[in-house]
Amino acid sequence: MRKYENLLQIQENREPQRAYYIPENHGAYTLLNGEWNFKYYKRDFDQEEMQVQWEKITVPSCWQLCGYENPNYANTCYPYPVDPPYVPAENPMGVYMRKFEVKDTERKHYIVFEGVSSCVELYINDEYVGYSQGSHLQAEFDISGYVKLGENTVTAKVRKWCSGSYLEDQDFFRFNGIFRDVYLLSRPAGHIKDIKITTEENNICVAFDGEADITLKDGERILAEKSAKGEAGFTVENPTLWNAEKPYLYTLVFRYMDEVITQKVGFVKYEIGQNCDFLVNGVSVKLKGVNHHDTHPENGWCMTEEEIKEDLLLMKKLNINAIRTSHYPPHPKFLDMCDELGFYVMLETDLETHGFTNREAGFCGYDSVDNDIWPCNRPEWRESYVERMERAYNRDKNHASIYSWSTGNESSHGDNHYEMIKYIKSVDSMRLVHCEDASRVGDTEAIGMGFEERPDLYSRMYTSVEEIEEYAKDDNRKKPYYLCEYAHAMGNGPGDVWDYWEVIYKYPKLIGGCIWEWRDHTVMVDGVPKYGGDFEGELTHDANFCSDGLVFADMGLKAGSYEAKAVYQYMDCQLEGTVLKVTNLYDFTDFNEYTFTYSIEADGECIEKKEEKYNLAPKQTMEIKLNIPKSCRLGAYVTCTLTDNIGYEVAMKQLKLPTECVQEKRELSPDVRVEDKANYIVISGDAFAYTIAKHTGMIESIVKDGKEQLTAPVELTVWRAPIDNERGLKQKWEWHNVWEGENVDRLFIKAYSCEACGNTVIVDGSISGVARTPLFRYKIKYSVYANGEMKIELTGDIKENCIWLQRMGFEFKTPYHKDKFTYFGMGDMENYRDMCHHAKMGRYESDADREYVNYIMPQEHGNHIMTKELKMKDGLEFIAESEFEFNVSHYTAKLLKEAMHQDELKKADFTNIRIDYKNSGVGSNSCGPDLIEKYRFAEKHIEFGFTVK
Ligand code: GAL
Ligand code: MG
Repeated sequence: MRKYENLLQIQENREPQRAYYIPENHGAYTLLNGEWNFKYYKRDFDQEEMQVQWEKITVPSCWQLCGYENPNYANTCYPYPVDPPYVPAENPMGVYMRKFEVKDTERKHYIVFEGVSSCVELYINDEYVGYSQGSHLQAEFDISGYVKLGENTVTAKVRKWCSGSYLEDQDFFRFNGIFRDVYLLSRPAGHIKDIKITTEENNICVAFDGEADITLKDGERILAEKSAKGEAGFTVENPTLWNAEKPYLYTLVFRYMDEVITQKVGFVKYEIGQNCDFLVNGVSVKLKGVNHHDTHPENGWCMTEEEIKEDLLLMKKLNINAIRTSHYPPHPKFLDMCDELGFYVMLETDLETHGFTNREAGFCGYDSVDNDIWPCNRPEWRESYVERMERAYNRDKNHASIYSWSTGNESSHGDNHYEMIKYIKSVDSMRLVHCEDASRVGDTEAIGMGFEERPDLYSRMYTSVEEIEEYAKDDNRKKPYYLCEYAHAMGNGPGDVWDYWEVIYKYPKLIGGCIWEWRDHTVMVDGVPKYGGDFEGELTHDANFCSDGLVFADMGLKAGSYEAKAVYQYMDCQLEGTVLKVTNLYDFTDFNEYTFTYSIEADGECIEKKEEKYNLAPKQTMEIKLNIPKSCRLGAYVTCTLTDNIGYEVAMKQLKLPTECVQEKRELSPDVRVEDKANYIVISGDAFAYTIAKHTGMIESIVKDGKEQLTAPVELTVWRAPIDNERGLKQKWEWHNVWEGENVDRLFIKAYSCEACGNTVIVDGSISGVARTPLFRYKIKYSVYANGEMKIELTGDIKENCIWLQRMGFEFKTPYHKDKFTYFGMGDMENYRDMCHHAKMGRYESDADREYVNYIMPQEHGNHIMTKELKMKDGLEFIAESEFEFNVSHYTAKLLKEAMHQDELKKADFTNIRIDYKNSGVGSNSCGPDLIEKYRFAEKHIEFGFTVK
């Protein structure tokens, strides 16, 4: 039996898991990161002696990103046969070797691996020491008996796969190697091993192996000092409590001989309240979360401490207060930082067996209830499961930020999960337990199966807003509802975050959730972010499903990031008559720490602005009486912001004021020249001419001041380049277009009649997809006035059985360099009807290149809703009858659709201006539910008008 396939021996000589710490005394810690000797074998060799021609590798790293094997991105499917616990016969191996110094053999010596995928066999001076698996878990070995004074060698044989790989079928690039820190610890004999710290009321309880002098500090101030053996208690008078907004920490210092160990302590109490809500120190708190994977565009699973910190600081800026460590424990320093910066963390252990749903042709689903093929039901796998929970718990148990443990992800549910839940409940009664798979089974059914001990949260992923509301209303459901994943943030999106939160705020039982996911996973190749299927040898892959982050792989922000920030923000404003009601949504922070500003704007001009610090306690509302402008032309708004002491805007909300919009009265002279030719109607005046083609009823030429404005005929279209969330639509078009969809990307336009009448042209027309009946029958009335303005009025009906459309509007192609513009509408970042809380109405300036958003897979971008006017510099101007949506781009839907990567995208040689009646929202349907109905463009009768000049 091979060691790495032997379920009875998933570790050898590994130290029992203890709480994470690094002794701080001089010489205790030697980081072994850096250059190692390395040899990659396509198949693992067993112990034969060999002459190794060493190459070099940097530790930590993923060997696929260092030139050994290609990356492979796989979501659910195992990248090898499902034949547990056996792995492929050809199991690649990386051998790592380096030298290190030992200065004192009297001391105890340990080597710690923070993360090795998939398993490590350790040798010191060529003598076998031990074995460990569990890629994202810590492995510590006592090497005291193996080292000698002076120079020593450490050799780590790392296999690509082991039995543990079956438990690590997470949705990510499948990387291997020593991908986290490796270090040596030199410690005095008799040193402390484990430390467990708990707080209750104002007491700190410490249990530890060994003896120590312990100092409790508040900052630099010493509160107490004690010598203790095995356990110690401390009492703090009126302790400052820890919460994610005010993460206050005390410090415990343990001294034994020369050894100094520090642990941070936070006083925090997590519980479920009477309203089935989530309480932090007795206060009902919503979890505004995100799922976090460790990912880096150049280095894969390796993140430096600085990079982890950057992630967390950016989350803070986006008002995120909760993290689920999907789907494994992060680098231990991650948790230190969560304690310090303030996040509510769900610590998930390294476990996912999703691929069992795909083990047979056809989909098996989470069928563990009916069979014992799933490892979660098999006794020989029990230890592999439980030890993953146990190791995660023991490493991280002292972190104030952790409010819940999670048994893993997408693994169906069976006895072994149940043992994990039982275990974690037996060691930690102060935190919650999460197991989404157990929630899938349902309490009654699970109890029927003998699983009495249940997770504390009811947890689901990607359920619709309606479903969560149904749960909230059902009084028989007593558990807090937690969305472990929602709002799939892939590409242009997510669009439905706001709608979830309207409901979440309404019901205490809905405690929040975590957006899937924090950051795009990609691999940079020659400056281009690549994804699944881009690499040779990927036997199974899931294309660009890995680029589904709320922020780009390089941490760049998109409209979706700002949308999440806006929804998660801690300020709400409402207008009641002329009274502005401002609510502090923080749980523990008074508004007086921020500056509140409101400005009253009419037609984009600020007419009043007030800036002040208000005392407003958490969850309280204040009222401000506003001076409402009497009248305006385009719209009047009040914009409220909250800024912190360095001027960063933490919250913004704009409200429309009840000011009357008065259009300027203009008498336009209809006195124009109309030439009715065989194929065209030309309407002209002193400095302009419009040509309308009779076959299509579309404008083919606009001459303004002697210059042609169009480079191609205007089109009436109804599609946009599919966004990732429209994969469903895309699939319908491309794979099943014989049966499904309206083939709107291959559209025919028809004018049944096109007649001149006075200064107007009336068109009776339709558009149809290839192979389909007309989907939209309409009339267009073009009215041209002596000043050169043309009013375009479109009325018509979409056929009853038509699927909802992505959009409808006119596309004007104008010369490439006429791409600068100003507008009065929603900006300044792109916005859609369900992703617009980050934007505000105003007057903006932009250009086509600035409007482009460099999504990993090129797609629809740059829309602006609620626009009143759009003025192209030295070009056409568009004025809304009521409002329109627009986009200005150097890319057409076709060009965007055809490009699969950033570098494949070609620019058009014109500027495309889209003046739309409406766009459907963006939603999160790439994995989430269907687009919410109210955001679908599904109405049948259309009336749309605007003026071009
Ligand atoms: C969930 C899963 C995540 C990720 C996501 C899709 O089902 O838990 O790990 O795969 O879907 O991006
Ligand atoms: Mg999965």
